[in-house]
Amino acid sequence: MNIKLYNKISPKGLALFDDETYRFGEDVVNPDGILVRSAKLNDMEFNDELRAIVRAGAGVNNLPIDRCSEAGIVCFNTPGANANAVKELVFAGMLLSARPVYNAMNWVSTLAENDDVSTIVEKEKSNFVGNELRGKKLGIIGLGAIGIKVANLALHFGMEVYGYDPYISIDAAWQLSRKVHYAKTLEELYEKCDYISVHVPLSDKTKNMINSEAIAKMKDNVCILNFARGGLVDEKAVVDAIEAGKVKNYVTDFPNGDILHAKGVICIPHLGASTPESEENCAIMAVDQIQDFLENGN
Ligand code: MLT
Repeated sequence: MNIKLYNKISPKGLALFDDETYRFGEDVVNPDGILVRSAKLNDMEFNDELRAIVRAGAGVNNLPIDRCSEAGIVCFNTPGANANAVKELVFAGMLLSARPVYNAMNWVSTLAENDDVSTIVEKEKSNFVGNELRGKKLGIIGLGAIGIKVANLALHFGMEVYGYDPYISIDAAWQLSRKVHYAKTLEELYEKCDYISVHVPLSDKTKNMINSEAIAKMKDNVCILNFARGGLVDEKAVVDAIEAGKVKNYVTDFPNGDILHAKGVICIPHLGASTPESEENCAIMAVDQIQDFLENGN
């Protein structure tokens, strides 16, 4: 069977293909299956043999889901496989908002080697005072694979965690019970939390869910984190709210030209899953799924 690779897939995953049955690579034609990471396949044409597309990652916005359903082509993703990497980066984002590390590092880099660095640092460091995460309230919208991990790590930081997810799984509810406050409405979460992190898929329902109306209900000086998908946040509304002094920071893993240089916006270039560990996990799950489907139909 032919598997076309649209992106580099970790060799640890590719090694799981049974060589006698599969031929894989970027130049494969008439594939039975496709493995993809971030390449945009939305407008791709289907060949007659194609039966499955697997995204080695969580979001599926780069796949032609509706056309695949009509054509009987199955789409899979690898939920949870990169959740740890994303979770850790969420905390890097939160810490960058809480402590002015970035500005402080830039300032230190302006010092010269022959300066009396330790004396200057002791004199100037009061310009870079931040806050601790311990004791702060974190609101997590979406308690899926990533949201749960963020919640658990936040508890280790001593944060008070509020979660909102109308579709929470029994497993997640069980894992988090007695540790997380379940907000019954988004309003409840908005009015209580110092940090708000979104972890829901992008859909017609969730597009621009963080908009000016939502922001108006949030606490002053809130930090909004988006490691899920750019379209979830009305970025103009957030930038305006930062200008107005309502929002402290918007930390996003989905930069675009309009917000790149906006005050208070911390842009990370979609690095959530960019670790070899996560790439391996995603590749292993993706290859396992495509083989299972092509051979057993499930
Ligand atoms: C995902 O959807 O899995 C993450 O955004 C990371 C990625 O796209 O690789």
